[in-house]
Parts: sequence; C-alpha cells; structure tokens
Amino acid sequence: MSGPLRRVEVPLRPERYEVVIGPGALGELASMLPGTARLAAVVTQPGIGVELDLPLPSFVVEIARGEARKSLATVEQLGRSFARHGLGRSDVVIAVGGGLVTDVAGLAASLWHRGTPVVHVATTLLAQIDAAIGGKTGVNLPEGKNLMGTFSQPRGVVCDTDTLSSLPEEEWRSGLGELAKYAFLGVAGLAGMSLVDRIEACVACKAGVVAADERESAGRMLLNYGHTLAHALEAAGLAGGADEETHAPATLRHGEAVAVGLVFAARLAEALGRVDAARVGEHVALVESLGLSPLLPKGSDPSRLVEFMARDKKAHGDLTFVLDGPAGVEPVRGIDASLVVRILEEMPSA
Ligand SMILES: NC(=O)c1ccc[n+]([C@@H]2O[C@H](COP(=O)([O-])OP(=O)(O)OC[C@H]3O[C@@H](n4cnc5c(N)ncnc54)[C@H](O)[C@@H]3O)[C@@H](O)[C@H]2O)c1
Ligand SMILES: [Zn+2]
Repeated sequence: MSGPLRRVEVPLRPERYEVVIGPGALGELASMLPGTARLAAVVTQPGIGVELDLPLPSFVVEIARGEARKSLATVEQLGRSFARHGLGRSDVVIAVGGGLVTDVAGLAASLWHRGTPVVHVATTLLAQIDAAIGGKTGVNLPEGKNLMGTFSQPRGVVCDTDTLSSLPEEEWRSGLGELAKYAFLGVAGLAGMSLVDRIEACVACKAGVVAADERESAGRMLLNYGHTLAHALEAAGLAGGADEETHAPATLRHGEAVAVGLVFAARLAEALGRVDAARVGEHVALVESLGLSPLLPKGSDPSRLVEFMARDKKAHGDLTFVLDGPAGVEPVRGIDASLVVRILEEMPSA
C-alpha cells in the first residue's frame, strides 16, 4: 500500500511535534533530528530488525525483551552506555521499538544530562496508536507498573507501517485491543478503515486528549477506558505475562485484556443504568469484529480481581471506573465493590 504520508500534529506548547504515519515514513526520521546532534544513541531490542539510514554517527544499545526489562536497572544500563559513547546533551536518543522501548528510552533521555532530545520510531501497532504519543515515560517497580517516570515529549514520532510486517500475531491482537478503545472515545468507523487510516485516526484522538491535559489531571484518564479490569488481570497474572526470557506461560497480551475490559466496563455501565443492552452489544460486536475475545480469561476470580482494582494507582482509593454514558465516556467514582464482583461473576468466561 502506498500514498502520501499522513501527518498529525501534537499541539503542545512550547514544543509542538509531528507524528508521521504510513509506509516509508522512516524516510522522515532525519528531518526530526535536532540540528545540534553530532551523535545518536539508537535504543532498540533484538529481533525488531529496523535498519536506520542516519545522517550522523550512531551507536546501538539493546534492551532484552520482556516487560521485566522495563526497570530502573535498564535505565542505568542505558545511561552507562550513553556515557561510554560520549553522548552529549545536544545529541539525540532514537527509540526504535514498541511501547517498552519508547517508555524506557524516553525516561533515560529525559534524565540524561537532565533532558536530551528523543525521537520515537514506533514499531508495534500499540506503540503507533498509543504508547509513543503523548510524552509519558516510565518503568515498573516490583510494587507496580509504571510507578516511576516523567512527562517528557519526543521531538517527533515515526509510525512506518512497513515496520509492522514482522510483528507477531499476538502483538497485532494487542494493538487491535487498544484500537478498540478509541472507537468509544469518539473515533467513528474504525472497524472499516484501512490500517493507515486507523492509525491516523487514533493518533489524532490521542493528540487531542493529550493536548487538552498533558499531565493527566482529568481528561487523559479517558485513555484508560477498559484498563481497570485489564490492569487487574495483569496484576493477577492472567494477562501481560508472556515473557520470552522466563518462558512464563502465555497469557493475554495487554490490548487483549483491554478488549475484555471494554466489554466489562460496558456491562457495568449498563448495570448502573448509564447505557442500554444495545450499547453493550456494540462493545462486544466491535471487539469480535477485530478478531478479539470478549470473554473473561479462564481462572479469573472476581473477588481477587476487585482487590487488585482497589490497589490500581488510577483508582484514587475508592473504586473508580471510566464508563460510557449519555454524555460519552467519563470517570465515575464511588462504585460499590459488590456490584463489580457481581458483574464479573455474570461475565461469560473462556
Ligand atoms: N507511555 C504511554 O502512554 C503508554 C501507553 C500504552 C502502553 N505503554 C507501555 O507500552 C508497553 C507495551 O508496548 P507494546 O505493546 O508495544 O509491547 P513491547 O514494546 O513489549 O513489544 C512487544 C514485543 O514485540 C517486539 N517487537 C516490537 N516491534 C517489532 C517488530 N516490528 N517486529 C517484530 N517484533 C517486534 C518487541 O521486541 C517485544 O518483544 C507497556 O510497557 C506499556 O506500559 C505506554
Ligand atoms: Zn493500554
């Protein structure tokens, strides 16, 4: 597929930046690099296999695969490599990978000499429609995911759809689950769109939400639609755990858990009288039309999942969900845990 590249602006002040989308978008990378840069640190992972044609000297630092590498230890490893190669503050970090690489490289760049420019080359569908856009960086702690990080915007983001050709099947499904979320945040007609149109529409939606609420005070919470259950499934070891390193048993990928979370959120909204059964049906139909399952994974224990939900950092103590309703998707506080348990018990399970 060819055609002109799409450009979506992330209109932040003082530094607005562009997300360039389409086959061959990598050709735009050179124009995003700061003129001051004399050296580039390319942060990536084995197996991603994206060749860069750079107009300046560079060195490569690889992060091993698996969410366990999304750690402060990896940030230190990157910093030490930057030091050994003499990376300066006016040089540039280029993150080439999925959300793990863009989150960790983004954090390392924001700390390196107190802030060094970073450009993202997003190579998973999930990173292209979500993780690489918006400037949230972060790493996990044993106590929880993404607990340490910064807000630090990239200079630009490349979403070259050609790089997705090597993406494993489960990573496609994960991206599609995250894509489903945008259908309920106001992006109409996603199911029938081409890949490039889908990415452009999701990026434009995220850019709009981020521009209105860069530091996640309120509006940005909407991006967590479907995520409260997804995070609980991850905490319970029923999602997000597939790890090439440890050969942990395959579980749902993050976006697949989000897809189940969307259906659950719709059912909860229905029980609260916020939406009707037809709207729940639309959630199920969209998830299924993307080839994803709306079923709770086998082994789900409703009471235990609710305990994890109560601990989720985005839950502010009481049970808060982002729920659909007459005015669209919005945060709803003070939801009764016993109702949540009941809705989970009623959910069809795999
Ligand atoms: N900062 C944000 O706003 C934000 C938003 C959503 C998610 N995230 C984070 O993003 C991470 C998940 O990102 P992800 O889903 O992209 O997973 P990932 O980055 O772990 O990538 C998944 C797997 O695909 C491989 N891969 C990447 N590109 C490939 C390619 N083109 N061909 C073959 N293999 C490739 C990776 O090496 C990895 O093994 C999580 O850590 C999550 O917390 C951040
Ligand atoms: Zn997500």
